[in-house]
Amino acid sequence: MSAQTSCNTLPSHIAIIMDGNGRWAKARGLSRLEGHRSGVKAALDIVRYAGELGIPYLTLYAFSSENWNRPHEEVTGLMHLLHFYLRQECKELIANGVSLRTIGDISKLPHSVRDALADVCEKTKNGTRIRVTVALSYGSRDEIVRATRKIAQLALLGKLNPEQIDEALFQNYLDTQCLPDPDLFIRTGGEKRLSNFLLYQVSYAELYLSETAWPDFSRADLDSALAEFARRQRRFGRTSEQVVG
Ligand code: IPE
Ligand code: IPE
Ligand code: MG
Repeated sequence: MSAQTSCNTLPSHIAIIMDGNGRWAKARGLSRLEGHRSGVKAALDIVRYAGELGIPYLTLYAFSSENWNRPHEEVTGLMHLLHFYLRQECKELIANGVSLRTIGDISKLPHSVRDALADVCEKTKNGTRIRVTVALSYGSRDEIVRATRKIAQLALLGKLNPEQIDEALFQNYLDTQCLPDPDLFIRTGGEKRLSNFLLYQVSYAELYLSETAWPDFSRADLDSALAEFARRQRRFGRTSEQVVG
């Protein structure tokens, strides 16, 4: 999205790294998978709330390209959870006006999960209240490399002159091609890093780092993030005076 707004009310696009499920579970003597299950429930409530607030775009980091390196048991457990909740929540998502999409290399996901995703994306495609993008098997570097490969192939075929490559064209080859850049970037769970999430797109996002573990992230926590966002002055390289005047 172009750098035009300086006066923030509500962000148009919130991106969230939903982190801290494992530590949340461990602190309660539960399995990591129980932490992920509670994490899905928290995500569903935040989706509902963001829709009620009138936030048009919400992007959730659910599984990174690096998360494939976790223990096999955790990865399969996560895939089962995803499959289960996609099936269970489809009607509710439609009722809430959600349009669900994914970013990431979903060709790596099990067939059953891909089928369930295709089904929910198709059934929710007319949702107009909120576009929810789930990042699955997503890594920003992987996304940028895939985009570059597509552009290079077009150039090789003579369908594109390298001179035509600019930011607008490049963005059209990213997984996020239909999304504006995030305005507000939230990470829960206390870590202070980007972990390969939307590296290109968050150039001018406002960062909000929360100590709260994702399963405990509530509507009130989102309210606090939104209040903080509204207090920030976004300058996009200009001076304060330019932005106010
Ligand atoms: C985030 O929670 C969910 C996924 C990465 C799938 P974690 O599982 O990373 O939780 P912590 O960071 O170990 O507490
Ligand atoms: C980022 O969390 C990925 C998701 C929340 C899906 P991680 O827990 O994988 O990040 P690191 O490994 O601590 O950086
Ligand atoms: Mg983590």
